[in-house]
Amino acid sequence: MLEQINMLREKGQNELNAITSTDQLPEWYHQYLGRKGDLTSLLKQLGTLSSEERPVMGKVINEVKQQLQESFELRQKTLKETKLHQELEIDDLDVSLPGRPCTTGHLHLTTQTLRIQVYEAPEVESDEYNFQLLNIPEYHPARDMWDTFWVNDEVVLRTHTSPGQIWAMREYYPEPIRVILPGKCYRFEQITPRSEHQFYQVEGLTIGKNIRLTDLIGVMSEFAHKMYGAERKVRIRGSYFPFTEPSIEIDMSCSCEKKGCRLCKYTGWLEVAGAGMVHPVVLRNGGYDPEEWSGFAFGMGVERPAMLKHNINDIRRFYSNDLRFLQQF
Ligand code: PHE
Repeated sequence: MLEQINMLREKGQNELNAITSTDQLPEWYHQYLGRKGDLTSLLKQLGTLSSEERPVMGKVINEVKQQLQESFELRQKTLKETKLHQELEIDDLDVSLPGRPCTTGHLHLTTQTLRIQVYEAPEVESDEYNFQLLNIPEYHPARDMWDTFWVNDEVVLRTHTSPGQIWAMREYYPEPIRVILPGKCYRFEQITPRSEHQFYQVEGLTIGKNIRLTDLIGVMSEFAHKMYGAERKVRIRGSYFPFTEPSIEIDMSCSCEKKGCRLCKYTGWLEVAGAGMVHPVVLRNGGYDPEEWSGFAFGMGVERPAMLKHNINDIRRFYSNDLRFLQQF
């Protein structure tokens, strides 16, 4: 039997060395080391040996098995490496060539066009922009709607972001407009938990052909859903602003679901924005012919909705720089 084993080892080893392609490896393995291979069948024959011979032969067979296994693995490794080298040579891959630079992408032209623009208008305004061009002449009673910080007879701290409508129209004419104008506003107000003399607004302005009130309502309800949840309802009330016609006030259903709570002052509704169709006079002041163009505008507060969302009961906390407050958000 020992002879048989030695022969097997030699044959196996020789055949393994003769193998030149990884394709031939499984066949070799099957024949020598597989479950039905030669070595396994030798192990099976151990039963026919005497009890003294059995452990000796068993040991030898297992040693040979291990040797062949190791040789097999070595051969497999060498063949794989050779194969890789050959492939690399054939492909003529020069790994020392510099890689192709990885450029960063940018927004597609269509996306850029569709995306809303953000426009920043000045915080220190002229009477002309803050009032007159918005269809609020000098001494017009509507001026009382905005308690104003006057720098001198002609200069004000803007009382709202609406003068930005004029800036945007004059800059973008004759293109259609879809712009957002966020920024700080100032009012000569008595400071209370609900009102500060400095606060933020976000103005929205759309100018185009066939822009209608329903477009405005659609945008505002979409905003309410995105910002506060799909279950929110939007309510429209008639209102008055000199620079929109018709003018509306937009309310959103309160999270108390109309049961009434302190937040909504037991009405079930929260005020979101003042809005309307851009007044023909304002369109003209911006350079757009009202016979051809129409548009909508809205203006909404920033602090009050944030107060609602986070249950903040005093607007003065926003700008009194108390870190105990600021760090909570
Ligand atoms: N500017 C108005 C305000 O501050 C809000 C508004 C903006 C109304 C745009 C209509 C259109 O009260």
